[in-house]
Amino acid sequence: MRLILLGPPGAGKGTQAKVLSQEYKIRHISTGDMLREAVAEGTQLGLKAKPYMTKGALVPDDIIIDITLERLKKDNLANGFILDGFPRTIEQAKRLSAAFKKTNLLIDAVLYFKTSEQISLKRLTGRRVCEACGANFHIKNIPPKKEGVCDKCGNRLVQRDDDKVDTILKRLKVYEAETALLIDYYKKEGLLEEVSGDLDVYELFENLKVLFAAKKL
Ligand code: AP5
Repeated sequence: MRLILLGPPGAGKGTQAKVLSQEYKIRHISTGDMLREAVAEGTQLGLKAKPYMTKGALVPDDIIIDITLERLKKDNLANGFILDGFPRTIEQAKRLSAAFKKTNLLIDAVLYFKTSEQISLKRLTGRRVCEACGANFHIKNIPPKKEGVCDKCGNRLVQRDDDKVDTILKRLKVYEAETALLIDYYKKEGLLEEVSGDLDVYELFENLKVLFAAKKL
């Protein structure tokens, strides 16, 4: 199964990608995670990307595209993958299509998680992530067993730097201006499948399973 996840910040792309990658044993590739790792390690990429990420802007195409395509080349994608957070601009989508054409990889579907701004805001302001293993929680929707402590590894849960209200609002604006254009782009390619990102995690997962069965994926 070869999927691209599209949707605003807080649509639940990362959460659903983890569930899907476990269920279907396929790779989950997140450019957001890749960039946060680079920032934490202080690499050249991290140093270049950090100022954009902190203010809620997209990392410019000339920084992100080649690095992501290189990474995809190294990954074994033959058994399927979920791309989460890439592409995010028309230019990224065009470059990705060209790279896949070269290697004869076809995308099965672009899952668009249509999500209301109110839901995105509530989810992002309540999101907490483990500073050690990156596991994702929500103070109300998906709370850890013990407040502030990761269920998986016992380390501290923290708020992401870009999950402050002002930065979230900026990210939502950037999404509308730059990334939402991909909805029409992939509709024209005949790949877009719209699902409701407002549903809870399990309900959305069940809906996706029905969709995959209908598409014989
Ligand atoms: P990235 O990490 O990709 O951020 P994003 O797209 O803004 O997505 P989020 O992680 O905020 O939301 P999500 O949809 O994954 O939601 P999640 O599942 O976590 O990118 C960060 C930054 O990196 C960007 O701003 C940009 O600067 C840069 N960047 C990355 N890729 C780039 C690219 N291609 N080009 C340029 N720049 C790039 O869920 C959110 C919360 O809700 C969690 O607390 C979760 O527990 C909860 N939740 C999830 N699903 C549900 C549900 N169904 N019901 C109830 N609660 C739920």
